Amino acid sequence: MSRAARLALAGAAAAVVALVIGMIAGGRAFPRIIPGLPDAGAVVRWGLPVSKLLMDVTGLLTVGLLLMAAVLLPNDKGVLGRPALHYVKAASWAALAWAGAAFLAIVFGVADSMGRTVPQVLNGAYLSSYATQTTQGVALTLVVLFGVAIALFSRGAITAGAAAGLLVFALVTLLPVPLTGHSSSSPNHDLATSAVALHLLALALWVGGLVVLAAHALRREPQLEVSATRFSRMALWCYIGVGLSGVFSLVARLGAVSDLWTSEYGMLAVAKIVAFVLLGYVGYWHRRRTLGQLESGRPGAFIRLAGGETVLMLATVGLAVALSRTPPPEFVGPADRAFDLLGFPLPPEITLGNVFTLWWFDLFFAVVAALLGGLYGLGVRRLARRGDRWPPGRTVSWFVGVGLLVFATQSGLARYAQVMFDIHMIEHMTLSMIVPIFLVLGAPVTLALRALKPAVRKGDRGPREWITTILHSRFTKVVTHPVVATAVFIGSTYALYFTPLFESAMTEHLGHIWMTLHFLLSGCLFFWVIIGVDPGPNRLPYVGRLLMLFVTMPFHAFFGIALMMMGTVIASGWYEQLGRTWGDTLLQTQRDGGAIAWGFGEIPTLIVLLAIAVQWYKDDTRQARRSDRRAGRTGGGDPELDSYNAYLARLNRADKGE
Ligand code: HEM
Repeated sequence: MSRAARLALAGAAAAVVALVIGMIAGGRAFPRIIPGLPDAGAVVRWGLPVSKLLMDVTGLLTVGLLLMAAVLLPNDKGVLGRPALHYVKAASWAALAWAGAAFLAIVFGVADSMGRTVPQVLNGAYLSSYATQTTQGVALTLVVLFGVAIALFSRGAITAGAAAGLLVFALVTLLPVPLTGHSSSSPNHDLATSAVALHLLALALWVGGLVVLAAHALRREPQLEVSATRFSRMALWCYIGVGLSGVFSLVARLGAVSDLWTSEYGMLAVAKIVAFVLLGYVGYWHRRRTLGQLESGRPGAFIRLAGGETVLMLATVGLAVALSRTPPPEFVGPADRAFDLLGFPLPPEITLGNVFTLWWFDLFFAVVAALLGGLYGLGVRRLARRGDRWPPGRTVSWFVGVGLLVFATQSGLARYAQVMFDIHMIEHMTLSMIVPIFLVLGAPVTLALRALKPAVRKGDRGPREWITTILHSRFTKVVTHPVVATAVFIGSTYALYFTPLFESAMTEHLGHIWMTLHFLLSGCLFFWVIIGVDPGPNRLPYVGRLLMLFVTMPFHAFFGIALMMMGTVIASGWYEQLGRTWGDTLLQTQRDGGAIAWGFGEIPTLIVLLAIAVQWYKDDTRQARRSDRRAGRTGGGDPELDSYNAYLARLNRADKGE
């Protein structure tokens, strides 16, 4: 048996043993069967966590294989080399196994929730109703479908671009299950679900990347030093991400610190923290010792340590699945429906003071804002260190945009936006019209292209080359086409509010994240085309940009008026359940929301008109200076002007019949 196969076996064994120990320690292995209550039996009791473990491991592996192929291994002008092609093919099988494991989790999930055996479940219509009508069932079905899609597309992927696209797809496929999981029953379910989703994203890159790297090393495949160095740079950030999101997941589930040593759940989590610290030490040792030896052609120590690290990581994954099957300590919250739906008590009557003081931490968008601010700041600092100038106006604009994003997603505005339609509309307009204007005027792509170093190897793709590749891709060309950008910006608003989409987006945390992200991204796309400073494939002349802006205005006005005229409440199921007793009626807040949608558009229009005027003026001045310079180089005459004058003279002569 090859060494890589032996490592795989050891890792699998460690994961299963840790799962069994965790299930026993968590009290889930031999639960007390209460007579009269349905019991699905031992097959289901073990089948569900084992299928979840399989799902986690195959998901991490699919991400790891695609990461290795698209990012860690150097490629030649975007064409994958032999080992990378091999990993993409392997990812196709891992993705298929992932889909299969998710299907198993559906079967065992139904049996477990209904207290039925597997044959009973397979014979009845339980599967289809679970897979289509429960949030967890729909999430698992998405993993089955996406897993099969990744498996199929990987068969034909031969470029780094295709492998990178599949990598992003695989990372997105990790999200539905944690974002709809049992953590939605914890005290702060939004924090709990966001934290586990971010946890799995960081884990997939870190654990998936290391497992494949260790196998790559054991098989003595080429370019180990490059991929190990690249992985090490990424691994530190993943480690920080796993730790922070793990702690946030814990905070969201435990009522008190003492739960860590008084509850089974807490003690399993402590075991994970110990493993996390150990893994941190191993990472430190790699940086301190083994990577240096690897670079000087002595891979032995790196291979041994990476092997041990892989086994420890997979054991921790086993433990984590047992943790996710263990009920967290009971939390006794206010017995009101609003709290169950919102994850926080219904706020008091709205006042400006409350909007500015009742902040509510949203982990997902806090991470988004921290990344946007942190990466931009690092870019500006690098230019400054190099002595390169970066217009301060752009930096200010960017951080105003990030600041407004934080305000719109973390302050009382975000809290009241979940409770009142008109406040929701203010949040929507801020995220889709105001924040994007400031972000696109910050010119982040130009900054990245100036701050990032080109790839060390000719033809290889580092972050800088990836940005240029994406900028020149057919996808970017299509989405930044003015017609497409406008259609997305306007069309999606109508599609969201005049269909049941809005109610499900308000009800589900995953839906809420998607809705907020969509507002932001569709706004950034639209304003990038109109006033973006960064290079883009579709640059409109200034008149065209003005036209694009004015074309959207009647649609916004019509949207607002339609809301104001409506006689029924949008998403009434959601708002009625909240049971708000203060403030205006639901219909009145909806009408106010319509008025806001209609009127709010004026503010960004003004800012955009100003920005276009300034950009137009600067462009004209630049052109005038350029033609002056050209006139200077050719000894006074401007060739264009000269030939035009000659043409006029000829006409003149012709008129005179000379
Ligand atoms: C500071 C260290 C860590 C803490 C506090 C932590 C905490 C948590 C918590 C609270 C959950 C949610 C469990 C639930 O659904 O109730 C979780 C999920 C998970 N953790 Fe961690 N974790 C840590 C480190 C790690 C490490 C190092 C790994 C693996 C190498 C890991 C792997 C996982 C996995 C795979 C899940 C998802 C389990 C599932 O639902 O399928 N965690 N973690």
